[in-house]
Amino acid sequence: MTETHAPLSYPPSAEFTAQANAAEGLYRDAEQDRLAFWAEQANRLSWATPFSQVLDWSEAPFAKWFADGKLNVAYNCVDRHVEAGNGDRVAIYWEGEQIGDSRSLTYRDLQDEVGKAANALTGLGLVAGDRVAIYLPMIPEAIVAMLACARLGLMHSVVFAGYTANALRARIDDAEAKLVITADGQFRRGKPAPLKNAVDDAVASADTVEHVLVVRRTGIEVDWKQGRDVWWHDVVDSASPEHDPEAFDAEHPLFLLYTSGTTGKPKGIVHTSGGYLTQASYTHHNIFDIKPETDVFWCTADIGWVTGHTYGVYGPLSNGVTEIFFEGTPDTPSQHRHFQIIEKYGATIYYTAPTMVRTFMKWGREFPDAHDLSSLRLLGTVGEPINPEAWRWYRTVIGGDSAPIVDTWWQTETGAAMISPLPGVAATKPGSAMAALPGISAKVVDDHGDELAPPSTDEGEHAAGYLVLDQPWPSMLRGIWGDPDRFRETYWSRYAEHGYYFAGDSARYDSDGAIWVMGRIDDVMNVSGHRISTAEVESALVGHAGVAEAAVVGATDDTTGQAICAFVVLTADHADTAGAEIIDELRAEVAKEISPIARPRELHVVPELPKTRSGKIMRRLLRDIVEKRELGDTSTLLDPGVFDAIRAAK
Ligand code: WTA
Repeated sequence: MTETHAPLSYPPSAEFTAQANAAEGLYRDAEQDRLAFWAEQANRLSWATPFSQVLDWSEAPFAKWFADGKLNVAYNCVDRHVEAGNGDRVAIYWEGEQIGDSRSLTYRDLQDEVGKAANALTGLGLVAGDRVAIYLPMIPEAIVAMLACARLGLMHSVVFAGYTANALRARIDDAEAKLVITADGQFRRGKPAPLKNAVDDAVASADTVEHVLVVRRTGIEVDWKQGRDVWWHDVVDSASPEHDPEAFDAEHPLFLLYTSGTTGKPKGIVHTSGGYLTQASYTHHNIFDIKPETDVFWCTADIGWVTGHTYGVYGPLSNGVTEIFFEGTPDTPSQHRHFQIIEKYGATIYYTAPTMVRTFMKWGREFPDAHDLSSLRLLGTVGEPINPEAWRWYRTVIGGDSAPIVDTWWQTETGAAMISPLPGVAATKPGSAMAALPGISAKVVDDHGDELAPPSTDEGEHAAGYLVLDQPWPSMLRGIWGDPDRFRETYWSRYAEHGYYFAGDSARYDSDGAIWVMGRIDDVMNVSGHRISTAEVESALVGHAGVAEAAVVGATDDTTGQAICAFVVLTADHADTAGAEIIDELRAEVAKEISPIARPRELHVVPELPKTRSGKIMRRLLRDIVEKRELGDTSTLLDPGVFDAIRAAK
């Protein structure tokens, strides 16, 4: 099917619509009375003390939702399902990285595990409000640890286990974490790799950390610091599973999650309890059309990212559905792995990143075609724009030409999905996240904050604007940890007069008013759906003794969406080392300082960087170079000859 003959939009089948959780009426209900609508969604949860007030926006941009209500988040994700008679339902089908290594936990099992872990954490001296860093691979203990924190009112800060000791240290220090939960090691591509050693490095100088709680996962040897280090199997397994959940205020903090901003220092995004869980649960139920009795839901995201929090833990468990939790990578031991898992567990809903879909396309359809994927009835994507070609392939090859696809736009900061089609309602268009969900309001505006008008036709080029959220929403971030000024400045200053939240993305409307999100307009790159700031990579590069200056830009990449391209100027005493060796060394340095996902695809040693007269690096022009475009306006360039030198060096 060529792009020109492919349908422009895909309506849901009549059968899907007839059984869908969400119908057109949901938009009407939300429009009639937005706050009453959110109160109704919040009441899908179980409250120990009901709320009387829905939203307090009097101290904008610091919102309070359901402020006088009290609830326990873990109780809502676990105990209430057991009390409702669903204790025997599988909560988690855990699939280990090695074939044959798997485990199922029912909701009753999960209740016992969370109760034990909560008792153990209390035994380690943790009290509500304390911060706990979780640095674990995708094993059941990771979910148990998160829920145990939630149960006790501790804030978890999950750090992706692919991050290095440096990245972990920065996050532990910023949050002043009292406990780190980790594992001896993790399995990667069939082999055990150490993990705890990174924690040892990270906490060596962290005086807030009292204990390191260690799950034995691989059996590899670890250094042990008596008094500080504690085995999970010693303190959790022996603890009582009985634990009374305490109800916390709706605005009690639930977690911190660090994400890249436009500076080198990651931002600790703060989320709270009632509003976050309300929107996580509501969006999960409606976007994924969840039928807890029959569905097997799989969100492939790592718990180190917000998608892993909201649709790997809190959304699915609050809705009492069965989910798949996979420790490994999609090509270990072979490229069949995801499809084997779908087949093995009869997955009905599959949610992944566009980069994964493009990778599957590259591998070829013989892999999915070798499996019975007919259990799949709904597909989703998140993290970056999906190109129409990948969307169509996803639908045809994975979705049997019938499964609706939900393209969900949201951010670490928004906590839960904001713009997405409802699968039984919208005729979806490949590449568009379509419209704000019921209860949510989004606009595409120009520099002045005026809303763009949808074009009269979809022919030709269309003006892009900026995506803003013009109404507060329950799962919105409540701030940046310890930095209220940066919170205001980053998100609320650009359209301060209008009171809009500025998302940092460009977007446009089509002639039907559907929203097409195009990508970040700031210095944040999106590599395989991971946010990495140019400043972070630059600071890793200039940390190397041989680098005098560095500039980093994102370039379009067929598989990863964007790829990192670095330009470096070497110091005088390294100038004659230019060559493949230093390039490899510097790429490795970034992987070591930040994470292998931040390793630049290209690194060019250049004699100088293009700068304005005021000394600002003109990344825009470097982007033109890596995208192989004509150079844009160079009139503000200090030395227009610099590009000949850069081209000669490339
Ligand atoms: C991008 C991930 C287009 C966007 C949940 C946003 C998307 C950033 C989409 C947030 C989508 C996310 N279409 N772009 N459906 N979803 N993005 O914080 O640039 O890791 O600002 O949250 O990803 O990334 P984050």
